[in-house]
Amino acid sequence: MLLKSKNGQWLQLRALRPTDFANLSHYLQHLSPASKSRFGPHAFDEAGVAQHYQDPYHVGYVAIELETGKIVAYAAVVWGYLKSDAARLESYGVAVFRDTDATYAPSVADEWQNQGLGSRLFLFVCAEMKNAGRKRLILWGGVQNTNALALAYYRKLGFCYLGSFEYNGLNDDMILDLR
Ligand SMILES: CC(C)(COP(=O)(O)OP(=O)(O)OC[C@H]1O[C@@H](n2cnc3c(N)ncnc32)[C@H](O)[C@@H]1OP(=O)(O)O)[C@@H](O)C(=O)NCCC(=O)NCCS
Repeated sequence: MLLKSKNGQWLQLRALRPTDFANLSHYLQHLSPASKSRFGPHAFDEAGVAQHYQDPYHVGYVAIELETGKIVAYAAVVWGYLKSDAARLESYGVAVFRDTDATYAPSVADEWQNQGLGSRLFLFVCAEMKNAGRKRLILWGGVQNTNALALAYYRKLGFCYLGSFEYNGLNDDMILDLR
């Protein structure tokens, strides 16, 4: 899917391919320390990216700047739920389902943040999830309670707060019903 950004740049949104791994690693390693402290679903070096995507339950989505070929946004998705999240979700009374849940972790390059790109990426991922029969999106490891931009983003997209937990500070679990 092609889209024109607010600053007039053409971007392509699509599923991650194995040929993107070096480009993705470059994107991840060039995130600012602040963004890296918020986003870390897997190792950022090329071998770590390749290893993560050996698991058929792991899929990725990217936004690519057409002019430069650079990745400028990336979402990591797991089909189902993470074992590390399941017990907490169940403690809120939320039963988890391998076949109809999906777990979501988004990121946007620092110079592109707060310009609507994360929301466009979300809409794209959402459509892909619905096509794949997914009924809910769970936040991967929750969201840090101090991450005001991400909290605003998730609330705007309709995610509901479930509860908080302590892991290197306070984190909020949130979930979105896709139906
Ligand atoms: C979180 C992230 C993916 C969001 O993507 P994004 O492209 O920056 O977000 P968007 O611009 O689409 O949406 C942000 C919304 O929050 C709003 N917002 C920003 N700061 C806000 C604040 N302090 N209070 C209230 N709303 C705020 C924006 O106005 C925008 O809403 P709008 O489109 O209605 O104007 C991105 O900022 C990012 O990669 N952050 C670093 C990594 C990260 O935190 N990942 C998530 C880990 S849980």
